[in-house]
Amino acid sequence: MNNTKNIFNKAIFEIQKLWADNKELSNFVNFPNNLILNSVKSQKAPVTDKLYNWNQNLNTNLEELHTTISNLSPHVNWEHGYNEKEVGKDFLNKYGFFELIGPSGHFKTKEMALYVNFLDKNTYYPWHNHEAEELYFIVSGEAKFESKDQDSEILSSTKTRLHKSYQPHAITTSNQQILSFVIWKNKFENVSKMINQ
Ligand SMILES: [Fe+2]
Repeated sequence: MNNTKNIFNKAIFEIQKLWADNKELSNFVNFPNNLILNSVKSQKAPVTDKLYNWNQNLNTNLEELHTTISNLSPHVNWEHGYNEKEVGKDFLNKYGFFELIGPSGHFKTKEMALYVNFLDKNTYYPWHNHEAEELYFIVSGEAKFESKDQDSEILSSTKTRLHKSYQPHAITTSNQQILSFVIWKNKFENVSKMINQ
């Protein structure tokens, strides 16, 4: 088994362990059995190195998990989900995600999707929504979460927040980055869209 494969398999092992220990995750969606690593080409983004080099001031209860995900960063298919015209160049330098598990993920399944989401310091991720029901799980760092018809909240390591289907939401960081798992279930074929305000 080569080294890159080991890094991916270690990540799945850690996430599976997290699911077994965390009722909010396991009640949201079952962790898929029999995930197999597929070959998905890696693609860098401006945040690739930011996550890879984030090894201090983690603000996490899950240091092993953070390090495992950070080690994946150079080997994954980073995406933005939005283009420069929609969100501006600055945002694309500060935000990115990769589909670790899902219909087109490094580990393929149709049962759910798990995106690893990185948002840099001092960044505003504007209001957006999508059909899928979504659970955020914070691995490290901190951000303010806002959603329509709900109180805003500052979330840090191990905290979760649910977004219902099409419920608009926005995320703001200040002096810390944030690393999250974004888990989608039901109707995850349709991508996220910015909301014109
Ligand atoms: Fe979302």
